[in-house]
Amino acid sequence: MVEQDGVKAQIGVTGLAVMGRNLARNLARHGYRVALHNRSWEKTASLVAEHGDEGTFVPGRTMADFVASLERPRTVVVMVKAGAATDAVIDELVELLEPGDIVVDAGNAHFPDTARREQALSARGLHFVGTGVSGGEEGALNGPSIMPGGTPESYRTLGPMLEAISAKVDGVPCCTHVGPGAAGHFVKMVHNGIEYADMQLIAEAYDLLRQGLGADAARIAGIFADWNTGDLESYLIEITADVLAHTDPVTGAAFVDVVLDQAEQKGTGRWTVQAALDLGVPVTGIAEATFARGLSGSVPQRAAGAGLPADVEPWAVADAEAFVADVRAALYASKVVAYSQGFEQIAAGSAQFGWGIDRGAMARIWRGGCIIRAKFLDRITQAYAQDPELPLLIADPYFARVVGDGLAAWRRVVAAAVTHGVPTPAFSSSLAYYDGVRAPRLPAALIQAQRDFFGAHTYRRTDRDGVFHTDWSGDRAERQA
Ligand code: 6PG
Repeated sequence: MVEQDGVKAQIGVTGLAVMGRNLARNLARHGYRVALHNRSWEKTASLVAEHGDEGTFVPGRTMADFVASLERPRTVVVMVKAGAATDAVIDELVELLEPGDIVVDAGNAHFPDTARREQALSARGLHFVGTGVSGGEEGALNGPSIMPGGTPESYRTLGPMLEAISAKVDGVPCCTHVGPGAAGHFVKMVHNGIEYADMQLIAEAYDLLRQGLGADAARIAGIFADWNTGDLESYLIEITADVLAHTDPVTGAAFVDVVLDQAEQKGTGRWTVQAALDLGVPVTGIAEATFARGLSGSVPQRAAGAGLPADVEPWAVADAEAFVADVRAALYASKVVAYSQGFEQIAAGSAQFGWGIDRGAMARIWRGGCIIRAKFLDRITQAYAQDPELPLLIADPYFARVVGDGLAAWRRVVAAAVTHGVPTPAFSSSLAYYDGVRAPRLPAALIQAQRDFFGAHTYRRTDRDGVFHTDWSGDRAERQA
């Protein structure tokens, strides 16, 4: 239905490419009157023509018409490309809004941009809500996971609408107020970083199965389908089975075998790693996953490296069943490490920016709708319910036990990968992280000594408080700094 005569819309969506269009339809299907706007009128008109029967839409030809068609305080969702396009739309919009109105950026904005925009808009009395939305086109239409930041006051108006259109798991909405300011976009960024790690780990498991078993894609599809019935049950494992079972209609070959092996990225994984470096959080799984995409796309380097020797024996696994079980255990353990690192990054960001993010609630809203939705997120929520300040997720009793149970298999898999020359950066670095974080003593002591030697950077001692320097080039006496 199209309303034009004076009936005001409860929420507006500007930017009607596929994500905005689907969010608008989702809102309308939930009974909200939705104002529509797009830079070109054709997109608005086609939405109304094709889906006008799904609810009540109020189309606006200009931004001014669009804003005028909204109830006060106005709530406007901006769904345009992250970056300059978002700034341009916001600049146009703010001139037409009034104090108390709410601007929601539901794109994949970089969280420092969100912080900047919130500051600028709050100076004009407007609420700016940077909101993570995950689930792709399908999720936007049928129920995404939604991660809004911004003021608690804005959430009172916006929250019920976003919760209504979000995915539900056990009747619980996959949406909650993440925290003030840029907290929502920060959490969405880390979600994507974890997504990169999860995808890389799955890809490494696939590669190991392929090379170790000499199996084709169809056989491995069956293994992933089986894995999707246990602890590993998740959207990404499910679609992996689906993709591997798919046959290319052009050649009749396995689809995965005709896809160019160069993984691209829009940047959210890179942002996660950059932010982790700034916060000093070792998100090694996410970093390796991001670098692995980079390596895959390093065409001249790969061409130059293609002739380098491997010096490995051909690989034929003797006990296929045991090997598949080992790879499954290694995948699960590595995945727990990657998620643990992501949640540690959320804790660090929350502490640094004063967001007060409840990590258990983040695991809860990721159970449905989003790309990393998985059965084991329930266990993460439980872990933080038991200890909201948990410093290390893999040290939670449940996760310590499951990772411990898979440890021998994990070591066998990483050792086999190294022996046979199969690159497994995420499996290997996750295991190295596990061994590092559990080690009673690290060789970092030597690094401190070296730093003091060449740069008088000082060190602390195990047996006494204080900061010390040794006079390495002189009498080697130790002095308190
Ligand atoms: C989601 C996805 C979505 C998108 C990313 C990742 O949560 O719905 O994460 O945001 O797929 O843009 O894309 P890249 O792999 O291109 O970085």
